[in-house]
Amino acid sequence: MVQLQTYSKQQPLFAVAGVELPKAAPKHILTSSDLSPAQVRLVLDLAKVLKYDRNFAPKQVHMHENRVLAMIFEKQSLRTRFTFETAMVELGGHAIYLTKSDIDMGNRESISDVAENLSRWSAMIVARLNSHETIVELAKHSSVPVINALTDLDHPCQALADLLTIEEHLGADPKKLVYIGDGNNVANSFAVTAAMLGHEVLICTPPGYEAADVCYSFPNVTQVYDPVTAIKDADAVYTDVWVSMGQETEEEERKARFAKYQVNEELMSHAKSSAIFLHCLPARRGLEVTDEVIDGPQSVVFDQAENRLHAQKSLMKLLLDGVLK
Ligand code: CP
Ligand code: NVA
Repeated sequence: MVQLQTYSKQQPLFAVAGVELPKAAPKHILTSSDLSPAQVRLVLDLAKVLKYDRNFAPKQVHMHENRVLAMIFEKQSLRTRFTFETAMVELGGHAIYLTKSDIDMGNRESISDVAENLSRWSAMIVARLNSHETIVELAKHSSVPVINALTDLDHPCQALADLLTIEEHLGADPKKLVYIGDGNNVANSFAVTAAMLGHEVLICTPPGYEAADVCYSFPNVTQVYDPVTAIKDADAVYTDVWVSMGQETEEEERKARFAKYQVNEELMSHAKSSAIFLHCLPARRGLEVTDEVIDGPQSVVFDQAENRLHAQKSLMKLLLDGVLK
């Protein structure tokens, strides 16, 4: 058997049994407010570099070998799953995807026990969970960073990709950004992140469907109820589904309440002619947006989808490198 002394001469050891390494408190990204405006700026700037490298210098390596990303998904996903896994692979590590039927967190075992276990094996946890309270509990017991990949309250990584896309198309100067539809998780994160970057944000929802209070704590975020008033002279128009995952029983009521908030060519005609159209996807074509708009020349929805990769790679790299605290 190789003795520890001999082994340590060949392979320097950073710690020996009985010596506790000091552990820094992990930085969690549970809501968009968990990043400061300066940190949002840093994530977007690094994302631009990483995107350039990937497209024009693909041999450039950003090594995080052998780092494992745990991904807990209680809800369906195309973009979020694919882009987090791809980003981790491109950073040099890999990801392990755990669905509700794999681990049934909270039933098969407690949320805290899942967090304690995954913290021992993985460098980071990405979680898409039904209830925001669950991710708060998960993070409380995790000694590695936890990133929200969508809860009922927030979708912070989506917002980073959205703002990256807006900057690519319109530049970084403050713009008039209008969110129309349900004041949901996507609206909450978009409004907070856009407000932090100094944009003028209008949230346009039916009464009773406003965004979370935190959005309106920014002086540059306003609530409007009339879509034509809201969209006037907009630089960017954003919408999302009227019925989010988990709200299926409200479908008929919501379709009726949101009908006049559909983003169609007539509504878009009140925005600037240079305005761009955003949607986080998946879209319910013919409901919140028409084919003509989402497939039209103003639509940047697939740039947004691509930018999920670059924004999340940047966020994960900054967390793995300990730059975000
Ligand atoms: N926009 C978004 O989060 O897409 P998925 O639900 O497919 O991950
Ligand atoms: N608001 C939607 C976003 C999907 C990416 C939902 O929560 O289902």
